[in-house]
Amino acid sequence: MDKQIGFVGLGIMGKPMARNLLKAGYALTVYSRQQSAVAALIADGATGASSPQEAAEQADVVITMVTDTPDVQQVILGQNGILAGMRTGKVIIDMSTISPSATRDIAAAVKAKRVHFLDAPVSGGEGGAIAGTLAIMVGGDEEVFTSCLPIFQSMGKNIIYMGESGSGQLTKLCNQIAVAVTNLAMSEALIFAAKAGVNIDKMHQAISGGAAGSWQLSHLAPRIFQRDFTPGFMVKLQQKDLRLVLHEADQLQLALPATSLVHNLFNALETMGAGNEGTQALVKVLEQLAGVKVET
Ligand SMILES: NC(=O)c1ccc[n+]([C@@H]2O[C@H](COP(=O)([O-])OP(=O)(O)OC[C@H]3O[C@@H](n4cnc5c(N)ncnc54)[C@H](OP(=O)(O)O)[C@@H]3O)[C@@H](O)[C@H]2O)c1
Repeated sequence: MDKQIGFVGLGIMGKPMARNLLKAGYALTVYSRQQSAVAALIADGATGASSPQEAAEQADVVITMVTDTPDVQQVILGQNGILAGMRTGKVIIDMSTISPSATRDIAAAVKAKRVHFLDAPVSGGEGGAIAGTLAIMVGGDEEVFTSCLPIFQSMGKNIIYMGESGSGQLTKLCNQIAVAVTNLAMSEALIFAAKAGVNIDKMHQAISGGAAGSWQLSHLAPRIFQRDFTPGFMVKLQQKDLRLVLHEADQLQLALPATSLVHNLFNALETMGAGNEGTQALVKVLEQLAGVKVET
């Protein structure tokens, strides 16, 4: 593990991903606006940096795990940004979920400074980030991908090279369509059970192992039963992703009726003040419409 890694963005996902790089033996320099997160990583053996630029200065590879497209643009291309500190021939990997077309622009700006760039968004949630079992979908030059594979393997299990810059992000948007629509399907099953007077706990046991089984049913439904709406993945971030999906679909003149519907229902949820809750809170909108609560 001879590569020096810089890591920018220590939120729900970034913090455990950075920890797994330390566990794999990489020398790690971290930057985050949250000082408590930086302090926690320093306690685990990382070095702290005072800017993204500083996190990049000694690094062979810098990973970004921030919120949205403007954030990635700022931490890579902005003042005191990663690119200002990066040496020729080194690699920037963005693992956030952002716009595919902006990703292609960022890749071009980075390559113009003779630095490599990969888009490598992830799926698997906070649990997958902690366990080091994330699915990672990667766009960019294949040789650069291959050289970074051991780094990805420290954070994930299902690591797939997708093709040119932006194709990792396009793949992630496919993932988000399936995730959001399945969340709605699961929520409707739960609300139907509540209204029909079915024993919800037993129904959950009965259908989880059959054709209705899903990550959502296994991971999100139990949190709903406990009325636990703390975020693994925040509603406002899900909405960011659905906006990206619907923008791309618009460009393609593509109808995505179920995705549009779930985006609308999440709008209602945000109006209810739940933007910072986890996506399992979607059930609350259906509860309002049905006049019942999902309770076990
Ligand atoms: N949570 C999930 O289940 C999940 C799964 C797959 C992919 N993702 C994606 O992964 C990315 C991170 O998600 P998350 O759940 O870890 O979000 P999060 O907990 O909100 O963390 C985002 C981190 O980025 C930092 N950040 C944002 N903008 C910044 C900027 N301009 N400059 C410096 N730091 C900045 C934030 O700092 P502050 O706290 O100071 O704002 C925070 O540390 C998102 O793109 C998300 O869509 C999330």
